[in-house]
Amino acid sequence: MNGAVDPIPGHRAATMIAERSPNLRTAEWSEIRGLFALDPGAIHLNTGTVGAMPHAVLETVDRVTRQWAGGLGDVYPPGMYSDHRATIAKAYGVDPDEMVITHNATEGVARVIHGLDLHAGDEVLTTTHECYSVLSNFNLLRNRFGIKLTTITLPTGYDVHAEQIIELFEAAITPRTKVLAFAGITLFTGTKLPMRALCELAHRHGLITVIDGALLPGMLDIDMRAIGADFISCSGSKFQCGPLGTGLLYMRNKVHPQHNPLPLPTFWPIISTWYPMKGSPPPRTRTSIESDNIADYVQSAGSASIARGAALATACEMWDEIGRARIERRIMLLADYARELIDERFGRDAMYSPAADPTLRSPLIAFHPFQRPEDAWNVKKVHEYTMRLQREYRLFTRWTEFDVAGSAHQHYASRITTHIFNDHDEIARAVDIMARLAAEMS
Ligand SMILES: Cc1ncc(COP(=O)(O)O)c(C=O)c1O
Repeated sequence: MNGAVDPIPGHRAATMIAERSPNLRTAEWSEIRGLFALDPGAIHLNTGTVGAMPHAVLETVDRVTRQWAGGLGDVYPPGMYSDHRATIAKAYGVDPDEMVITHNATEGVARVIHGLDLHAGDEVLTTTHECYSVLSNFNLLRNRFGIKLTTITLPTGYDVHAEQIIELFEAAITPRTKVLAFAGITLFTGTKLPMRALCELAHRHGLITVIDGALLPGMLDIDMRAIGADFISCSGSKFQCGPLGTGLLYMRNKVHPQHNPLPLPTFWPIISTWYPMKGSPPPRTRTSIESDNIADYVQSAGSASIARGAALATACEMWDEIGRARIERRIMLLADYARELIDERFGRDAMYSPAADPTLRSPLIAFHPFQRPEDAWNVKKVHEYTMRLQREYRLFTRWTEFDVAGSAHQHYASRITTHIFNDHDEIARAVDIMARLAAEMS
């Protein structure tokens, strides 16, 4: 099944990008901004929900869709995405047998959660700040099989430090804990969790690690294996700017003790046409040489979104050309600028996102925009604020809701997200608009 010809080999897509913009590695950020299909009248500060697609990505969707429109080809082999997985895996420091192209982060994490070998009484430790895609699937396991779900509430605010977070997790581990699950970056407060330290904690306690990495690819220049997790499920349409309905899933498939010394967890690849009809797959390896291709089991799941998968690969190739370290630096620089302005206009106490500890900073910044503290639990007000920013100023942000330790109420925050297609000028304009509208509504 893997030998089939991919209709859009990776190098062809790369050539097409290079023809369009030969010097992406040295291009000015203003030129790079021109590669995106941005709405000219709008300010897009909501990549935490969905990024903007580059024109080249849209073109790949269109071209590959047309190639398959006649319906005469064998649609199954290209759905294995062999070339694309190889290119994408390389960008993230892993091998193709550890990388799956999924339909989004939600699908990826659901297939992980339901593929774990968990039984009644086993405990999963996670946080109340996880996406519903994570919490609802674990809750289903609780109702279906009687696992125990323990959720800690992450600290919020400007001065939070990584050690506080690690200590909270450590204190909640019990002899029955089997899984540690957490977001690489939380969507509600934009806290970048200390992923490596939490994985090392899990290693010390023999735990399986599941990272919701929806927001990681396309933002951070990461070596997924070096993080030390067993699974990282990611979105393709947020910072990686692939089409909606794309995702990436890293699944540890060999043991590199320097990254994660634990044996590979038992894994049941639900939704797979490759799982054997008789017998079982070979036992999982205990060395750095794979015994089987776990990613193929998961990738092989019927007819796939071939055009969208190819377009996600186009986006990844573009990122490789621009330079992932350079992209990360730019995104963080813009976020630091936004944070400074928010600090100036709204005050440090308004901030839900950590900032004092640089390791916890991300380009997602959540804050309380209004003067009265009790407006933090006025969902109607923050919703109206977000809608007015859109309607009256074409400024796209979002509001988030989350538990705050010690508070009887859920809090609602305004959240902005910076990406490479943003610039200093539009961030300054956006924060100014937000401050003026918040004052008017306060
Ligand atoms: C942290 C986090 N996890 C999961 C998701 C769900 O991602 P997807 O839409 O790719 O399923 C999101 C979406 O915003 C998210 O921010």
